[in-house]
Amino acid sequence: MLTLTINDVDLEVDVPDDMPLLWVLRDVLGMTGTKYGCGIAQCGVCTVHMNGNAVRSCVLPVSEAAGNKITTIEAIGKTALGKRVQQAWLEHEVVQCGYCQSGQIMAAVALLEKVPDVDDADIDLGMAGNMCRCCTYTRIRGAIKSVAKA
Ligand code: FES
Ligand code: FES
Repeated sequence: MLTLTINDVDLEVDVPDDMPLLWVLRDVLGMTGTKYGCGIAQCGVCTVHMNGNAVRSCVLPVSEAAGNKITTIEAIGKTALGKRVQQAWLEHEVVQCGYCQSGQIMAAVALLEKVPDVDDADIDLGMAGNMCRCCTYTRIRGAIKSVAKA
């Protein structure tokens, strides 16, 4: 039995230590906001925060998540920065099909947390691992910059 702290709630899960956190979130806990894409840390759609850092939950063994503070898309809007980023996403009409956007928002919040006055180079570096098949990159960049300016 492992105890996970997800979105400030302690949850006990009875799963194998090496099960990826993404599987636990989606299939065990029913938290389906975090998406499954490649499963090999290449696309970013499964991005969550561990102690404020963006991590790929598809390759993070759940045992490594235990004892750390995990935040998912379901709760990112409860932080001031997360709320501002989500609002900017709406204002810039970023979303197309939407599948990648949980991961994009989680990556953007982690980036802005570390670099509040991001420039293009910071965005290139911080968002490089998050793919979007609908090519919403320009709007993502605009939304992130609008939060940085504010
Ligand atoms: S599903 Fe995790 S990076 Fe693609
Ligand atoms: S909005 Fe469709 S994959 Fe990004």
